[in-house]
Amino acid sequence: MLELKNLTKSFGDVPAVRDVSLSVPDGAFLVLLGPSGCGKTTLLRMLAGLELPTAGQILFEGNVVSDGDRQWQVDPAKRNSGLVFQSYALWPHMTVRGNVDWPLKVAGLETAARTQRVDEVLAMLEINQLAERYPNEISGGQQQRVAIARTIAPKPGVLLFDEPLSNLDAKLRVEMRTELMRLHRATGATAVYVTHDQIEAMTMATHVAVVNKGRIEQFGAPQDLIDHPASAFVATFVGTPPNNIVPVVRSGAGWQVAGRPMDITPPLDDCLAMFRADSLSVALTEGPRSLPMELVEVSTIAGRTMATALAGGLRLTAVLDRPPAARVGDRVHIGLPPVPDAWFTPYGERIA
Ligand SMILES: Nc1ncnc2c1ncn2[C@@H]1O[C@H](COP(=O)(O)OP(=O)(O)O)[C@@H](O)[C@H]1O
Ligand SMILES: [Mg+2]
Repeated sequence: MLELKNLTKSFGDVPAVRDVSLSVPDGAFLVLLGPSGCGKTTLLRMLAGLELPTAGQILFEGNVVSDGDRQWQVDPAKRNSGLVFQSYALWPHMTVRGNVDWPLKVAGLETAARTQRVDEVLAMLEINQLAERYPNEISGGQQQRVAIARTIAPKPGVLLFDEPLSNLDAKLRVEMRTELMRLHRATGATAVYVTHDQIEAMTMATHVAVVNKGRIEQFGAPQDLIDHPASAFVATFVGTPPNNIVPVVRSGAGWQVAGRPMDITPPLDDCLAMFRADSLSVALTEGPRSLPMELVEVSTIAGRTMATALAGGLRLTAVLDRPPAARVGDRVHIGLPPVPDAWFTPYGERIA
């Protein structure tokens, strides 16, 4: 089990990670998902033992490895974890074999055992034919495989990944995603994977922690986040396309959306309404609950049409079974259902 208890990290008086608590079982694939600057790398560096928490604890298999309250931690090399960065940082003067062998040498393994283990992980990552090459003689994607092979060679119980695929092109990224999941299953290690890419998170994770401004906004299985987003932030951060959030404000005896009276009744005077993309419709004529907007983008994914429209500051995306009769640039009417898919307070907290 991997456990974080009230983990906090400040740099000077700037908090980067605030009171994070969660636990995942052995063998889990935990994804820390959030925008740039939300504290993901800081969290991962604390897990690796590269950063001492300001407060709180980290436990691997029930043993405290970092204790911010006592300002004490287990050395990075002694905590049975392996870290893969976005930039691969291979040793340029060593061959692929030499790079993967290095951590085993440091760990004091015998030559025969090392050779066997290096061959094994090179085969696992399908790079055995590159063993005698130097990093500058292989592609970026291959370098990333070597970096991963080097990390898993000593069989760490916890694998840590900091946006490891973001330097790869789109096709390679999708390939490596599958590859990493296969590897994770094969090693049985617990993985903690940091990304700002919600599709990566949704496809790879057993558990997702959505991080915003150093705090966990929601922790759950990928499907939980889709089915029941706990905050407006989560609702707009996950899902393909993400959910639409629309402010509904009191106006006299009724309510308004985007400055237009709307037949909709929120639980509070001012609220945020969530509409899933497939709850919206696109029409050429006005409807009972519609907003006039400009159609700005139409695309097709997997046989369905995604249409985005703008008006004022509001941007709405609908997913439709068939392409709309309108073209990009046309004025359309985006239809809202009578009841939104969820309500949030103006601060983004979910209202049951
Ligand atoms: N060594 C550091 N010194 C001061 N501030 C830092 C340091 N490392 C990170 N921060 C700050 O902490 C916050 C979180 O950063 P980081 O963990 O790198 O976010 P992420 O990986 O999600 O982009 C940012 O505001 C960043 O500027
Ligand atoms: Mg980072």
